[in-house]
Amino acid sequence: MTLRLAQAGAADIDAMMAVMAVAFDPGFGEAWSAAQVLGSLATGTAWAQVAHGQDMSPLGFTLCREIGPDAELLLIGVAPTARRSGIGWALLAAAAAEARQRAAAALFLEVRDGNVAAFALYRAAGYEVIGRRRDYYRGADGVRFDAVTLRARFDD
Ligand SMILES: CC(C)(COP(=O)(O)OP(=O)(O)OC[C@H]1O[C@@H](n2cnc3c(N)ncnc32)[C@H](O)[C@@H]1OP(=O)(O)O)[C@@H](O)C(=O)NCCC(=O)NCCS
Repeated sequence: MTLRLAQAGAADIDAMMAVMAVAFDPGFGEAWSAAQVLGSLATGTAWAQVAHGQDMSPLGFTLCREIGPDAELLLIGVAPTARRSGIGWALLAAAAAEARQRAAAALFLEVRDGNVAAFALYRAAGYEVIGRRRDYYRGADGVRFDAVTLRARFDD
């Protein structure tokens, strides 16, 4: 699959929200609103990247931010119909490359315990588990899930 991966800004909000609407399980309330994404981008310390298919349909995106000497992956999503074709991998690599470019010492992220696909992607990309926040996420049915914190270090 031909993939076009590019830096994105407020002008790309529709593309990001099109993926947001289908990528995140509504049972966990992890999707952000357009206002939340735009607010994050407006801080000037956040950045987004969008992956488009050959026909320019949006297939995936990431949202990250600088935080102190590090960077944080806030969101990564790939449209269900486009999964397992390397888009998440490419987006994660591009997010890490941009974090390095911004002189971040590490890229941190949090994943809900039980999010098998995301956890497998991060582990395959070499991220290490460095912590756990108990009962951080709450599912629609009230069941709580830990958040697992992972990190990729760039300062080695
Ligand atoms: C997590 C997510 C972004 C992965 O996107 P993707 O484009 O399907 O990932 P890739 O095709 O690049 O997968 C790369 C590797 O990750 C691992 N992986 C990805 N999905 C997996 C799954 N469902 N089960 C097991 N391993 C998986 C595999 O090692 C895979 O390599 P392989 O296909 O050669 O075996 C996608 O599943 C998604 O959007 N999930 C919903 C949103 C979400 O939970 N985001 C994370 C929290 S913000």
